[in-house]
Amino acid sequence: MPALDLAWIRSQFPALAQTVGSHPAIFFDGPGGTQVPQRVIDAISDYLIHSNANTHGAFATSARSDATITEAHAAMADLLGCDPDEIVFGPNMTTLTFAMSRAIGRELSTGDEIVVTRLDHDANVAPWRALEERGVVVRAADIDVEDCTLDMNDLARQITPRTKLVAIGYASNAVGTINDVAEVTRMAHAVGALSYVDAVHYAPHGPIDVRAIDCDFLACSPYKFFAPHMGALYGKREHLTRLQPYKVRPAATQTPDRWETGTKNHEGMAGVTAAIEYLAELGQKTGATGDRRAALLAAMTTIQAYERGLIKTLIAGLLEVPGLTFYGIREPECFAQRTPTVSVRIEGHTPRELAKYLGEHGIFTWDGNYYALSLTERLGVEDSGGMLRIGLAHYNTAAEVDMLLAALGEIAV
Ligand SMILES: Cc1ncc(COP(=O)(O)O)c(C=O)c1O
Repeated sequence: MPALDLAWIRSQFPALAQTVGSHPAIFFDGPGGTQVPQRVIDAISDYLIHSNANTHGAFATSARSDATITEAHAAMADLLGCDPDEIVFGPNMTTLTFAMSRAIGRELSTGDEIVVTRLDHDANVAPWRALEERGVVVRAADIDVEDCTLDMNDLARQITPRTKLVAIGYASNAVGTINDVAEVTRMAHAVGALSYVDAVHYAPHGPIDVRAIDCDFLACSPYKFFAPHMGALYGKREHLTRLQPYKVRPAATQTPDRWETGTKNHEGMAGVTAAIEYLAELGQKTGATGDRRAALLAAMTTIQAYERGLIKTLIAGLLEVPGLTFYGIREPECFAQRTPTVSVRIEGHTPRELAKYLGEHGIFTWDGNYYALSLTERLGVEDSGGMLRIGLAHYNTAAEVDMLLAALGEIAV
């Protein structure tokens, strides 16, 4: 596996040079949103200087805006492995998923069932629970609390001949567990149900191939993979053309435009293209030849391998910290089943106190439930501050992991 050029990578992200007092800033808050390369900032500025207009006008800046939108769809399609008209952009994954649940709900009737999981972020739960007011029954698949993996037997029990949709996370934004989304999609299709994959947490950590998964929908959030604050959704063309969105009458009737209601975030889309170009260049630097899709697959595979190295150091170190409770997969032989996102608690300190202490030392982590509410409730930590989440990205280093472990070692004793 080719090595990542960490010096080049870090030089691309101006935010990484920040300090907190005398401490270098260490960004372990990636699952909440990642930093952006300089070219993303430049692309946004460039759009606002040279292309700022609404769409489909008879003048230059409007034509450039149309081109910006077309390029962003093509770039996202290369990242996910689909066609550009199967990509829908929106403000964020949550809003896109509510829009899609409203549209899918139009096809459902009383007694139809939807399966969600207890591992998931609420953005892939609440939009489906909202359909309960139409008489839809929502069933939740359980987890194995020992290692925070999905209980596949329970999932199989929850899927019935009445199931119309299975909502599944690609990876948990709290404990990093990666689900076998291709298998879950197969289980959904076996009863004629759709699969709706939440890839928000997984997207910055590995390659995605929606055709290989065969999912019907896959949602992600570019701001978690080095782009601006936006959401993006893949939908199989047959669904995006069949389902009826709630839209204004003069808006386009063709897909994907009819799903992108109102004026779009053009500068955000310029930034998304630039972030994907950054990843493609990273892939080329690892030796990839061929088109942008091939470069992106190479980039994400190399990132995955690099991050697995960091996970080993991080988890081995955490398990040595006195009084630490670790939630999730901890055996090195199972690390292919997790992202570099871990959640812990340390006896005698609330997760908030830990995050605050680390923050004062320039180390940015999250505390609470990060909207993975069903999980924190299932683990019994919701009423006592949730967990401390440490989320690594490919721009993090082994030295930063060591600094985190040293800081936790100090507060734990
Ligand atoms: C796994 C997961 N799903 C969904 C979301 C919601 O994404 P958005 O903020 O784009 O609505 C998040 C955000 O943290 C997430 O981590």
